[in-house]
Amino acid sequence: MKRGMCPGTFDPVTSGHLDIIERAATLFDELVVAVALSPDKGGGPLFSIDERCAFIEQATEHLPHVSVRPFDTLLMDFAAEVGATAIIKGLRAVTDFEREFQMAQLNYRISTEIETMFIMAIPEYMYLSSSAVKEIARHGGPIEGLVPLHVHDALEERLAGSRLGRT
Ligand code: PNS
Repeated sequence: MKRGMCPGTFDPVTSGHLDIIERAATLFDELVVAVALSPDKGGGPLFSIDERCAFIEQATEHLPHVSVRPFDTLLMDFAAEVGATAIIKGLRAVTDFEREFQMAQLNYRISTEIETMFIMAIPEYMYLSSSAVKEIARHGGPIEGLVPLHVHDALEERLAGSRLGRT
């Protein structure tokens, strides 16, 4: 039984994340999507941990061997707790490399029993990020196709208030 783990903040999950999750899911008997609380990231997440988990649960309903779990510990501790032997992350353009390389090195220092593996983003999603989606949505721009429909609607609803205040 091989169990993998896809970690991230997922604020919110994008089509790029889901492409990586779906591709990673083909490599393992079980895949845990680990959603980090990340209270300090970028001034605090837009969506609560429960909302972020629910978005991914709905988007991965068709994959019964994929589960979604929140965590607020060291990633390596959480991976060991759930019995995952590999961390799978998406790698976009070169800008991701430095940060991901650093995290992979530090995580390997914490545990040599859990490998970090990377799946290359497809060109369509190479420049897609949750923060870019939020920025476009905040200014009323088009985000169709960049996130699943239910996340699109949640973003519209969440950001409608902030747009009303614009001058
Ligand atoms: O979506 P992100 O920001 O790329 O995800 C980063 C995440 C959540 C995977 C990373 O910040 C993380 O692993 N956080 C848990 C705390 C931890 O283990 N930090 C040490 C990593 S070197």
